[in-house]
Amino acid sequence: MGHLITVATCSLNQWALDFEGNLERILESIRIAKAKGAKLRVGPELEVSGYGCYDHFLEGDTYLHSWEVLAAILKSDVAQDMILDIGMPVMHKTVKYNCRVILCDGKIVCIRPKIFLANDGNYRELRFFTPWVPKKIENYYLPRMIQEITKQFTVPFGDTVVSTLDTCIGCETCEELFTPQSPHISMGLDGVEIFTNSSGSHHELRKLDTRIDLIKAATAKVGGIYLYANQQGCDGDRLYYDGCAMIVMNGRVMAQGSQFSLNDVEVVTATLDLEDVRSFRARVASRGIQAVHTEAYVRQDVQFSLSHPHMDSDRYLIPNKPREPFYHLPEEEIALGPACWLWDYLRRSKTAGYFLPLSGGIDSCATAVIVASMCRQVVKAAGEGNEQVIADARRLVGGKEDYIPTDPQEFANHIFYTCYMGTSNSSNETRKRAKDLAETIGSYHTDLNMDTIVSAIHSLFSLVTGKTPKYRVHGGSNTENLALQNIQARLRMLLAYLFAQLMPWARSKEGGLLVLGSANVDESLRGYLTKYDCSSADINPIGAISKTDLKRFIAYARDNFDMPVLDEFLEATPTAELEPITETYVQSDEADMGMTYDELSQYGRLRKVERCGPFSMFYKLFHEWGGYLRPTEVAAKVKRFFFYYSINRHKMTTITPSYHAEGYSPDDNRFDLRPFLYNASWKWQFNKIDKAAERLEQEGSAAENSNP
Ligand SMILES: *[C@@H]1O[C@H](CO)[C@@H](O)[C@H](O)[C@H]1NC(C)=O
Ligand SMILES: *[C@@H]1O[C@H](CO)[C@@H](O)[C@H](O)[C@H]1NC(C)=O
Ligand SMILES: *[C@@H]1O[C@H](CO)[C@@H](O)[C@H](O)[C@H]1NC(C)=O
Ligand SMILES: *[C@@H]1O[C@H](CO)[C@@H](O)[C@H](O)[C@H]1NC(C)=O
Repeated sequence: MGHLITVATCSLNQWALDFEGNLERILESIRIAKAKGAKLRVGPELEVSGYGCYDHFLEGDTYLHSWEVLAAILKSDVAQDMILDIGMPVMHKTVKYNCRVILCDGKIVCIRPKIFLANDGNYRELRFFTPWVPKKIENYYLPRMIQEITKQFTVPFGDTVVSTLDTCIGCETCEELFTPQSPHISMGLDGVEIFTNSSGSHHELRKLDTRIDLIKAATAKVGGIYLYANQQGCDGDRLYYDGCAMIVMNGRVMAQGSQFSLNDVEVVTATLDLEDVRSFRARVASRGIQAVHTEAYVRQDVQFSLSHPHMDSDRYLIPNKPREPFYHLPEEEIALGPACWLWDYLRRSKTAGYFLPLSGGIDSCATAVIVASMCRQVVKAAGEGNEQVIADARRLVGGKEDYIPTDPQEFANHIFYTCYMGTSNSSNETRKRAKDLAETIGSYHTDLNMDTIVSAIHSLFSLVTGKTPKYRVHGGSNTENLALQNIQARLRMLLAYLFAQLMPWARSKEGGLLVLGSANVDESLRGYLTKYDCSSADINPIGAISKTDLKRFIAYARDNFDMPVLDEFLEATPTAELEPITETYVQSDEADMGMTYDELSQYGRLRKVERCGPFSMFYKLFHEWGGYLRPTEVAAKVKRFFFYYSINRHKMTTITPSYHAEGYSPDDNRFDLRPFLYNASWKWQFNKIDKAAERLEQEGSAAENSNP
């Protein structure tokens, strides 16, 4: 005889401090869960306030409004006859905590503060919250507005679990899953059968499997049902929370939600048999012995049952079967994640569209294709009847009442503006590539020649100083050569903002456009970009994506979006086209930078992910490249990288806010905190590298000599 229950978890597109909208989405998720027959609904971490409130978590108002939202949930009809696990910040005895509030049938059962706080990479929870102590429980004095609704005066606050008539539920929050001593282990040994995990986890390329492995592992040994909830969308920052709400039982995935989606509310449910947990646990006899020795959790009893009331009705329920977890390819992740982020940014900023300077190169091409992917997502969601997407699309095309986006190109033409900003030194190939790409995507494309402005600035400078700088190919110095390139590069930024402000007006439309940047992560790391040129924009969807991944993405889009024009971009040599082309010279990025994009990715990972200074980077790369490079050659490369990295680090202070996608992102503002005035001679470090390289050379030649 089985013991079937239906449980629900969800992904919500919450927005920091949008209490009104957040409440709506929470209620909607409860409604859907209820309609699907679930008695337990779990929501994402800090869903009431939004996860990304940052220093607003230091403000009393955030706590006040969170209670107001909770009051509205308690009062609503949908909150009755359900157990709800809701995430919000709570202040207890003037200390701030990141909490789960457990409601049952319109009353508060307990408040569970987070014990392990996430505090690395993009996370700074310790800046706002204090971690709670395992197993400790106190009384929480409810705010008066809540007392009036629930008629409760105090509720338990602390590390406790909830006993229903038929099972036992315990919560973990995000970071706790990643820590070696996760709460689910001791809870599981103590008889907890259902674990809820509420998270605010963001997208990073190729990282989903780590998360899914952790979630599967959580119940693979200890047994149990694991409900994972997450935010989904851009809640006002560089991060894209990537959903993937999931239900796992005894280490196997039973239901999985989408990773990227334009749906504001996605509810994932599963019908499961509690007896499967019990029999799974009975398989290992020694578990019983460990369990006996586990210190018990204090249980909060509720007179409520998750099981379907009449055993008879079980006959009509079909329990979920295990399924394999679903993963996107990395190139699909690039096609979907930044596209969904751009859509949220566009609709939430209430702007009229995006403006992008197209250079004919691969980076601006990738940005354009991501916008095209966004348009495809919008058309798909509208086709599925997503009312919110349709309403947002109607506003964007200028309030046509019965408009429904059905064609990505047609939709792009309303909201996407591209521009080729050429000079007499631009090649016909890049100009044509840009035009062909714009046609394929459907963007509203313009093509201009800015020679007159460039030469006006040249003349101005010559008039004032009496000097005329020359390009290197005409015998000018490096300084002159760079300055002349920068004039063009920076004028493009000025033109981009001018056109972004006025192009809708020129087409008799309302509003202004957001300017998109398209510097990739490797260029930023090396500093191979002009400060305040087209790399300065409002937002940048590819700023934390490597050149190598961008190329894979372009190849993917060529085949999957039916865009054969992208072949030409893949074949072209990357070039800034800021220097005149001569018979014998075409500017090339990799030659200019003195390092390849693949090398840059390696430097980037070692510097940030592996936390290497120059000396340890030298050693790691010596082991990796030693087969075909001499130690002194490796040393020279590492030193060159650190030299350019450090003289250019200041550029990261003004880098355009970029979609966070890569663990080695050099984003100075949130993710990669470093100085921006270095002594670029790295005297101490480089001396040590040189000595080591010399020694390795000697050892190497000694070894060669001893070989017959
Ligand atoms: C919940 O899941 C996340 C994965 O996003 C994990 O990092 C975290 O540790 C889990 N929380 C708990 C309490 O296990
Ligand atoms: C283009 O190149 C020519 C020389 O080949 C140079 O004189 C001219 O200034 C360049 N134009 C621009 C806009 O930089
Ligand atoms: C580019 O095309 C124009 C006209 O289409 C032509 O006059 C010009 O010579 C071409 N330039 C190059 C460098 O091929
Ligand atoms: C950088 O450090 C070296 C070694 O200490 C020193 O000789 C040099 O003057 C420093 N550079 C600057 C600009 O201070």
